[in-house]
Amino acid sequence: MRKIIILFALTLPFSWSKPSTPSLQPQLIQEINSRQTSWKAGTNSLDIKSRLGFLGLHPDPDYKIQTKHHKIAKSIPESFDAREKWPECKDVIGKIRDQGTCGSCWAFASTEVMTDRLCIGTKGETKFVFSPENLLTCCEDCRLECVGGYTAKAWDYYINEGIVSGGDYNSSEGCQPYSKASFQYAVASKCVKACQNDKYDVKYDDDKHYGDSFYTLETNVTQIQTEILTNGPVMATFNVFEDIIYYKSGVYYHVSGDCTTCC
Ligand SMILES: *[C@@H]1O[C@H](CO)[C@@H](O)[C@H](O)[C@H]1NC(C)=O
Ligand SMILES: *[C@@H]1O[C@H](CO)[C@@H](O)[C@H](O)[C@H]1NC(C)=O
Repeated sequence: MRKIIILFALTLPFSWSKPSTPSLQPQLIQEINSRQTSWKAGTNSLDIKSRLGFLGLHPDPDYKIQTKHHKIAKSIPESFDAREKWPECKDVIGKIRDQGTCGSCWAFASTEVMTDRLCIGTKGETKFVFSPENLLTCCEDCRLECVGGYTAKAWDYYINEGIVSGGDYNSSEGCQPYSKASFQYAVASKCVKACQNDKYDVKYDDDKHYGDSFYTLETNVTQIQTEILTNGPVMATFNVFEDIIYYKSGVYYHVSGDCTTCC
């Protein structure tokens, strides 16, 4: 089954530096909160570091992706909610999945966009939940276990190899639901070319859905807004710094902390 055109948007290098020693933490939290109101910092029980996982677009630095350029015709509204624009896909678009303790964000972000866009592209007729587990485990040169992955390789894999369905950990949904190994133990299991769910009776090869093409956008807010308004959710990556470990709520941007491993 070959269906829709897929994209993902802007990509900035992800970087990371070592967390501060615990005695410095309250000071950094205070500093972040006193310097801005966009986002709130606090002590975090969530291990954010182990969830980060953008290694780059592609291991080949010369790899090129087609860039789409929108003519900006309409004005950009103050606010926009894709669930309201495509109510037939409200439940699909509104679902936020849990990657657990694995740097598999690249696999989740891409499969969630695939899921949303297939729904939107078929006017709500095909609600197929793409499996991040299948992408994570079977696209071995997409990633380093649960340490991270390459975003463009995920889309290449979708086009060339196809991806089966699979819901959340413990969900018993689809061909390859998210496994306990990935969710809890931060290891990508071995690739299994068979469905891993007794309750799902479609064959692995029959369950595969394939993409046609994908594109990127300029790193330009208006271009990205226009893409979202016209075609739906996009995949994006961004730089995070030491301060991300204290993220609690709001819209993150770099306020404090080093970036010792900046690209
Ligand atoms: C998964 O299901 C098992 C068995 O029902 C349960 O013990 C466990 O808490 C569930 N895990 C999560 C993360 O929901
Ligand atoms: C972003 O794109 C719009 C429309 O193409 C253009 O008018 C604007 O100048 C661009 N902004 C930047 C910062 O390049």
